[in-house]
Amino acid sequence: MKHIDIKDIQTKAEYVDTDVTVCGWVRTSRDSKNMAFLEMNDGTSLKHLQIVIDKSALDNYDFALKLGTALKVTGTVVPARQGSVEINAKEITLLGDCPADYPLQKKRHTLEFLRTMPHLRVRTNTFNAVLRVRSVMAASIHKYFQDRNYVYINTPLLTGSDCEGAGEVFKVTTIGYSDQYKSEEEYYSNDFFGKKAGLSVSGQLEGEVAAMAMGKIYTFGPSFRAENSNTPRHVAEFWHIEPEVAFAELDDIIEIAEDMIKYIVRDVMEKCPQELAFFNQHFEKGLIDKLQHLLDSEFEILDYTKAIEILKDAKKEFVYPVEWGCDLQTEHERYITEEVFNKPVFITNYPKDIKSFYMKQNPDGKTVAATDLLVPGVGEIIGCSEREADYDKLVEAMKARNMNMDEYADYLELRKFGSVPHSGFGLGFERIIMYVTGMSNIRDVILYPRTVGSIR
Ligand code: 4AD
Repeated sequence: MKHIDIKDIQTKAEYVDTDVTVCGWVRTSRDSKNMAFLEMNDGTSLKHLQIVIDKSALDNYDFALKLGTALKVTGTVVPARQGSVEINAKEITLLGDCPADYPLQKKRHTLEFLRTMPHLRVRTNTFNAVLRVRSVMAASIHKYFQDRNYVYINTPLLTGSDCEGAGEVFKVTTIGYSDQYKSEEEYYSNDFFGKKAGLSVSGQLEGEVAAMAMGKIYTFGPSFRAENSNTPRHVAEFWHIEPEVAFAELDDIIEIAEDMIKYIVRDVMEKCPQELAFFNQHFEKGLIDKLQHLLDSEFEILDYTKAIEILKDAKKEFVYPVEWGCDLQTEHERYITEEVFNKPVFITNYPKDIKSFYMKQNPDGKTVAATDLLVPGVGEIIGCSEREADYDKLVEAMKARNMNMDEYADYLELRKFGSVPHSGFGLGFERIIMYVTGMSNIRDVILYPRTVGSIR
């Protein structure tokens, strides 16, 4: 169907005073004595395109005024108010009728209501803006790494091991319920892979394999976590960006993470000014200032031990008590990043007992060279570490966690054959989208959120 994108009509002067055909869905309509007006959108622009109907010139137009109706309109592009354009309709064709029980009749609906209809909420201004920002950010992430000699790697989604060793893996099986097998072992030996399998929680371990040959790699794909966390920041299926860099120590990877975050934010501010203005107005007052502040500031680097001191000295009652060795809770993270520093903060050198086996052990014997990046409003968006490159120390850390060495034989061999210092991080794509858009629930920045007790 030959037609022109609404965005192009709105932004390219060459279309003014010419006849064009556009397609889209009716978003608002208004009927007056001699004229009727409708606004339509094809999804290419946040701004709707106004179609002006001269009733004396068109025989039948009633069908075109119903919200949600899909139309093809041919007409002349003419200048309108505030530098915009509109179309004087010459011909309107009905592509898809939309009866009055279309649920999006009102101008604004609550996000909770919209979550009940993921197939329709994408037609609202909010989701139009979220999905466009998401798309621009994805392109921006690829560009950042591609321009710096990183190789894009696709790591497996089906896995035989649990990367984080945290037991949050969704099981993958083709057998299902059966009382035919006497033991778990017998069950899995009859299953598709002949052993336990699951959906990957992270591509890191395979990313390390690739980095030990390609030097600098990144992944950008889904990760799956069966954690029972019904919070505004957790989904069971999220998109994960995981760079892995050979010859990089913790300081180096921290620099890369800060540079990448600033690059993405700068790019979105440049490419999506209308969308950010929309979020600034409707979802987070001060959003644009916050993003500019991020670009202008140097991220804080704060040692975990110092963070614990700050929290202990805080004139504030926390629900979860603070002691050296404890994992930081959301309330602690928010206090540090929002109330103390009011900018992104890397917390470094966590106690080894609360972190993963693969993290480089510091000389103090108590902490590891790991860092989480916390941002105001969202909390943790990046988990990062230098990896343990020493074979014996890695084995020791795995033994201390009762891990099955056979399952990690390949990973251990990386430490035998030309092991080098290397580091990497995982950025949660939805978390950074929340930060950039000001949307406060992760369910509203992904097309189909998967959460505990909810999938459709
Ligand atoms: O801190 P995490 O668990 O780190 C890893 O997976 C490492 N293997 C990364 C690496 O070093 N390559 O997860 C990384 C990030 C978190 O900071 C968070 O942004 C996001 O992934 N994330 C989630 N996002 C949404 N829903 C969930 N359930 C998430 N779990 C982690």
